Formats: sequence, structure tokens, C-alpha cells
Amino acid sequence: MADRAIGIFDSGVGGLTVLKAIRDLLPGENLIYFGDTARVPYGTKSQRTIIRYSIQNARLLESYRIKMLVVACNTSSAHALEILREEFPFPVIGVVKPGAKLAVSATKGGKVGVIGTEATVKSHAYRKEIISLNPFCEVYEKACPLLVPLIEEGWLDDPITKEVVRRYLEPLVEEGIDTLVLGCTHYPLIKGVIGELYPHLNLIDSADAVAKEVERNLPTKRKGERGFVKVLVSDRTERFERIAKMIMGREVRVEEVNIDKE
Ligand code: DGL
Repeated sequence: MADRAIGIFDSGVGGLTVLKAIRDLLPGENLIYFGDTARVPYGTKSQRTIIRYSIQNARLLESYRIKMLVVACNTSSAHALEILREEFPFPVIGVVKPGAKLAVSATKGGKVGVIGTEATVKSHAYRKEIISLNPFCEVYEKACPLLVPLIEEGWLDDPITKEVVRRYLEPLVEEGIDTLVLGCTHYPLIKGVIGELYPHLNLIDSADAVAKEVERNLPTKRKGERGFVKVLVSDRTERFERIAKMIMGREVRVEEVNIDKE
């Protein structure tokens, strides 16, 4: 059981920021990542479709006999977490709760901004979670649909990305937020641009908090030498490999799988 891998999925490259945090904290664990690159983005899809894709992704990872599942996608966490917990026998960890907890402990003035995909913002998953932790917090949410394509394009430090970020964030900053949840696993990749524009904001990237949550909930811990990291995608592209290398800091070997049979 201890040798079984932790399964992690996202719609594309974004969840690799979570994979990296888990790898850094738990280097002995075997990790299998699935990026659903053939069907990205999830953030513009209906709840029905997000749930269907999430279940297929979990089934694919289940076929590798995983001991735990990490939903490294805010959109799936916001819409499909409960269903995944009902459907599968292993523990399922999402990214919304750990991010919300961090935001509540970071804010001084109680005004928290949340950025994410359209589907994540529509679910109000962060607002609900933050308010349940501290009913005095005010939460300002904003969907930023242009950011995922810009990030997937690799325009991480580009004047156009900067301008788009400014357009999206200005109204939240005008409301007086002091903390901003990066409510999409792609967004930590443009943390630099956001921090440069708004240095006074606490930027909440839940990847490290998710890794700690994984450590706390691991059914069995693997001992011994470094574990393996396997990266699967539903559509193998040069773009994925380029961004994956940037996130992981090394060349990543990627294997294509057929998600349609799940
Ligand atoms: N990385 C996913 C998330 O955290 C979203 C990207 C997408 O729209 O597929 O929400």
C-alpha cells in the first residue's frame, strides 16, 4: 500500500505547481500526474461537463492503483470534489479549502480578493469557504478567463499579460483588498507580474498548503529512496513540455494516454 502512488490531476499544466510542492515536501512518494491537455480549459465549461471530466480523470488515475487523489484544479475542486469523494474509495484532497484557510489567516483588514476561472467564480466556492471560516471577511471575486490562455502560451512576463492583469485586478484593488487568492493553479506562474503591479497584496498560492494537507491525510507513508514522478497527458504537445520544464525546473518525460476510454 505504501508504495502506491498519489494521483494528481488538472486540466493542463497548472496543477504541476501543486505536483512540485508535493514532490518538494514528500520526495519519497510516488506521484502520477494527469494533465487533461486535450480538453483544457475547464473554466469555461458547464458544471455537468466539469463533473464528467473529473470522474474520468479520477478513473484513469484509479487504474494505476493510487492511494490518494489530489484535485490540483480549482475548477474541478469547486464543482466536483464532493462527488469524487462519494465515488472513489481513496481520500480526495482539493485546493479550495487550503487556499481559503491561508487567505483568512493572511488578511489584516478582512477584505479578500479571489481570482479564478469563470466556473470557479460562478460556484462561489471560495467565498463560501472563507465566510465559513470568518464571517466578518468581505470577499471580492473576479473571473479572469484570459489568463489561462496567456499562461499556456508561455507569456508569463509579457507587457500584454501585465495589462490584462491590471484590467482584471484594478476593481478589486479599488475595493481595498489586502489579500488575493490565486484561485487557479495556473496563476502562480504569473505571481511575479501580479506582485510587481501590486506589491502590497498578500498573494495566496495554495500549492504548499495543499502539499501539507496531503501529508496530514496520507493513508500510508512510503519510506526509502526518492519516489518516481510520472506525467500523463491526454494530448502530448511541445507546449506542455516547454511549460512543464519551466515549472519543474528540469526536463519532464511525458506519456500520452487515451482519456476517452474511461
Ligand atoms: N488550472 C485550472 C484551475 O485551477 C483551470 C484552468 C482551466 O480553465 O482549465 O482552475
